[in-house]
Amino acid sequence: MLRRLTLHGPGICWKETRTRTISQNKVVMSRKLHARRIEGIDKNIWVEFTHLAAEYKVVNLGQGFPDFPPPTFIQEAFGRAVSGDYAMHQYTRAFGHPPLVKILAKFFGRIIGRDVDPMEDFLITVGAYQALFCAFQALVDEGDEVIIIEPFFDCYYPMVKMAGGTAVYVPLRPRGICDQAQSVRSSADWVLSPEELASKFTPRTKAIVINTPNNPLGKVFQKEELQVIADLCVKHDVICISDEVYEWLTYDGNKHVKMASVSGMWERTVTIGSAGKSFSATGWKVGWAMAPAHIMKHLKTVHQNSVYHTATAAQEAVAMGFQREYDKFGTEDSYFVQLPSMLHAKRLRLAQCLESVGLQTIVPQGGYFMITDISSLKVDLNDPSTEGEPYDYRFVKWLIKEKGLATIPVSAFYSPEHRAGFENYIRFCFAKEDSTLNAAEDILRQWSKGK
Ligand SMILES: Cc1ncc(COP(=O)(O)O)c(C=O)c1O
Repeated sequence: MLRRLTLHGPGICWKETRTRTISQNKVVMSRKLHARRIEGIDKNIWVEFTHLAAEYKVVNLGQGFPDFPPPTFIQEAFGRAVSGDYAMHQYTRAFGHPPLVKILAKFFGRIIGRDVDPMEDFLITVGAYQALFCAFQALVDEGDEVIIIEPFFDCYYPMVKMAGGTAVYVPLRPRGICDQAQSVRSSADWVLSPEELASKFTPRTKAIVINTPNNPLGKVFQKEELQVIADLCVKHDVICISDEVYEWLTYDGNKHVKMASVSGMWERTVTIGSAGKSFSATGWKVGWAMAPAHIMKHLKTVHQNSVYHTATAAQEAVAMGFQREYDKFGTEDSYFVQLPSMLHAKRLRLAQCLESVGLQTIVPQGGYFMITDISSLKVDLNDPSTEGEPYDYRFVKWLIKEKGLATIPVSAFYSPEHRAGFENYIRFCFAKEDSTLNAAEDILRQWSKGK
C-alpha cells in the first residue's frame, strides 16, 4: 500500500506500507528463482534512500527532481494533448510519435549541423533510463567490455551486467591544482588521465559511456576532453553512449558540447536525452536515443520486444514543448535559457551556505547537483544498523535520521574497486524551491552552531 507524504515545500514522497498480503503470497519453489544476470544488482541506491527519506520527516535534497512545477506552457501542452481526440489516448508509432521525432530531428539537427532523419535516427523511450537500457541490450554482448567513467550514474553498471558485458572503470580524479587558501574547487578540476584512459581500451572494448554534464559531479566535458575520448573510439572502433540528460544546464560560460558533433563521432555515438530533465517534469518519463540508422535499428529491436511504446499524450506534449523551444532557441524566452539561469542562483546559494558551515564544495559547471567534502565533520556514527557500510552511506543515514536532511552518498557512483577513495563526499540536489533550500540552510546553520 502506498501513502502520499507531504514534505517541506510542495515536494511529495510516497511511503510504502508493508501489508501482510505480501508475505502471505510468498511462492515456494525448489529450484532457484532468479536469473543469473540479476545476481548482485538487487540493491538500488534510489530505492534505498528514497524509502529512508520517506520514513523520516526530511528536507529532501537527495533525489534528482525539481520540487517546483514545470513551466506553464508545457503543462498547458499536456492539458491540450489529453483533451485531444481519441488518437491521443491510443498507441502511436512504436519508435516515436511522429510529431515528436520530427521536431527532435529538426532541433538537434540544427545543433549538430547535420541532417538527422526523424524516422531512422530517433527512438522515443520511457525516460532516458529506458533509452540507456535499449542501448546496452542492443549493443553489448557476452564478453564485451564497456568503459565507464567514474563517478557515473549508477544504473550503467547493472545494465552492462544484464547485457552480459564487463564494466571497466576509469575515474575522473581531482587535479589538486587549487590554491590551499581557496577552499572552493570546481568540477573542472576533475579530469581523466589520457594515458590511463587509453590503457583501458582492449580488443574486447565495445563501448564507452560518458555523461556530460555529469551526475553527480557537475563536470561539463570540454571539446578537447571529448576529442581525446573520440580519438580512442575511432582508433579502437568503439561506440560511445553519451548520456546528455542535463544538456541545457551549464553555468559560468561553460558550453555543453554534444559528442555526436565531434568529428568522426556521429557514426558511432548514441546520444541519450530526457524530456523530464529538459522541462522539469521527471514524472512524465519521456526520453530518447539519437543515433545513425545502422545503430538505431538495433535499439529499436530491443524496444519493440520489451516496452514497445511510450505514452502518446506525453509525447505529444513534449513535441509541443520542443516546437516552442525551437522557435525561441537562444532567446530570453526560452525555457532552456531560463532554467539554467534560475538554477545558477540556487547553485551559488547552496555553495555559499555549505561553505559557511565549513563544508568544502565542488562547484559544478553543469547539471543540478553539487558534491561536498564531509571529511572535516567529526560525527559520531554510532548507529549499529549501518555498521560495515561505507562512511558516506552511514553519514547520509545519520543526517536523515538525526538532522532531517536527505542527501545521497557519492561512493554509490563509483565501482567497488574505487569506492574507498570517494567515501568522503555527499551529493546535494539544488533544483529545489527556495523554501526547501531555506529549510536545508536552517538545518545546516543550527547544526554548525551546536558543534
Ligand atoms: C545521468 C542520468 N541519466 C539518465 C537519467 C534518467 O532520466 P529519466 O528520468 O529521463 O529516465 C538520470 C536521472 O536522474 C540521470 O541523472
